[in-house]
Amino acid sequence: MTTPSEKLLLFGATGDLSQRMLLPSLYGLAAEDLLSPALAIVCTARTAMTDAEFRAFADTALRRFVPSERLDDDALAAFLKRLSYVPVDASKEGDFAALAERVGSTERGLSIFLSTAPSLFGSTIEGLAKAGLAGDGVRIGLEKPLGYDMASSRLINDAVAAVFPEDRTFRIDHYLGKETVQNLLALRFANSLFEPLWRAGGIEHVQITVSETVGLEGRVGFYDGAGAIRDMVQNHMLQLLALVAMEPPAQFDATSVRDEKVKVLRSLRPIDRATAATHSVIGQYGPGAMAGGPVPGYLDELGKPSDTETFVALKAHIDNWRWRGVPFYLRTGKRLPSRQSEIFIRFKSVPHSIFEGRGAMLQPNKLIIRLQPDENVRLMLMSKEPGLDRDGIRLREVPLDISMPNAFADSRRRIAYERLLLDLIEGDQTLFVRRDEVEAQWEWIDAIREGWAANSMKPKPYTAGTWGPSAAIALTERDGVTWHD
Ligand code: BG6
Repeated sequence: MTTPSEKLLLFGATGDLSQRMLLPSLYGLAAEDLLSPALAIVCTARTAMTDAEFRAFADTALRRFVPSERLDDDALAAFLKRLSYVPVDASKEGDFAALAERVGSTERGLSIFLSTAPSLFGSTIEGLAKAGLAGDGVRIGLEKPLGYDMASSRLINDAVAAVFPEDRTFRIDHYLGKETVQNLLALRFANSLFEPLWRAGGIEHVQITVSETVGLEGRVGFYDGAGAIRDMVQNHMLQLLALVAMEPPAQFDATSVRDEKVKVLRSLRPIDRATAATHSVIGQYGPGAMAGGPVPGYLDELGKPSDTETFVALKAHIDNWRWRGVPFYLRTGKRLPSRQSEIFIRFKSVPHSIFEGRGAMLQPNKLIIRLQPDENVRLMLMSKEPGLDRDGIRLREVPLDISMPNAFADSRRRIAYERLLLDLIEGDQTLFVRRDEVEAQWEWIDAIREGWAANSMKPKPYTAGTWGPSAAIALTERDGVTWHD
């Protein structure tokens, strides 16, 4: 299945994701001639609109969300011509017939991008199948949320699998479309330097932080039913962890890479009722200040009482040969002081310092892979400060920087969805999540949530604009580790 589709069908085309990410990504690809000129894009959502009205809607969204230096009137006009629109109410079978008529033959390939409320998954998949929009040449890309626990995720995956085989199912985790995330694979497997140290013998601990400054952002209905662990850890953070920890795959292809990731996910030591209280911390932001101005607390934004966590910190272990004894600290939250996504790897100290008697303190090496807001890779090394050393040797930690914007100044920074939409259209599953990975992720997450319930753990309050509850600091300090802020 590596023939590019000739058609793309976009569900949820009037939604926020579509306006901010999907339409701008498709425009970016089209403007660079990366989409076949024949690729027709059929858009759908519930709102009744004509083609012309939808094109005007898309035009407004693109002018708002594509940086002005990349907006070209001719490219925009050509892109809008590709778009057509059919309103679909997923609960009405007749609407799918109208959709099928508009899409026409799927013989030369159709890729569907589906982001919908979990409650509409079943009827949408069924509607597609009944209308003949699920045949051999059709692939389906699925955006989260694909369930809220193992049981509901299985129901959705079963409903999908009844119609689309796994090799035509593309589960999206947009973190896998991020350039630095893929660069992690290049760093590990295109260099011989790191691999010998990339294990318990060379690494002391790993930290993965995805911090956000935003709050609820109006996503009241969705977020309060999810919380930080299901919104961020179950998917994005566990995928990052799997890429850091996996064994070298034999090839860079969908089967080899995903086989290795799933082994890591299945090797995660359960955090359960016995360890939830010592290995996890949950928090919920209260009112505070961000960027110099006051911001309301979670409950004020929500308008009702809630025990949903907006912050979670975990101490995880991977029970296999490579990672025995190496803690992986994970932390994510809303309304934290800065937007910062990074993987921080602290190597072991040198076994013996020859400089100790000369007054110099050594720091262990660190590798920091920064995903956001800037994309770069930084290796911290010890270096001698220039001087005659009459009062002892001075050593200092200095960064060896591979700042992406500098090293690759002529390539533009892409939206993660550009890569993922292109791979969906072209049929490459490497950067999509396989069902067994999703289930291994849910198994681990469900046990943690059960542990919270069994221990009656409730989120601890933290002030918006701080790094979460103080217990999160204690979680690492107990091991003599400081979070890298
Ligand atoms: C989404 C979550 O999956 O990822 C959001 O639902 C979160 O709550 C977002 O804000 C973060 O993505 P990014 O690419 O901005 O780090």
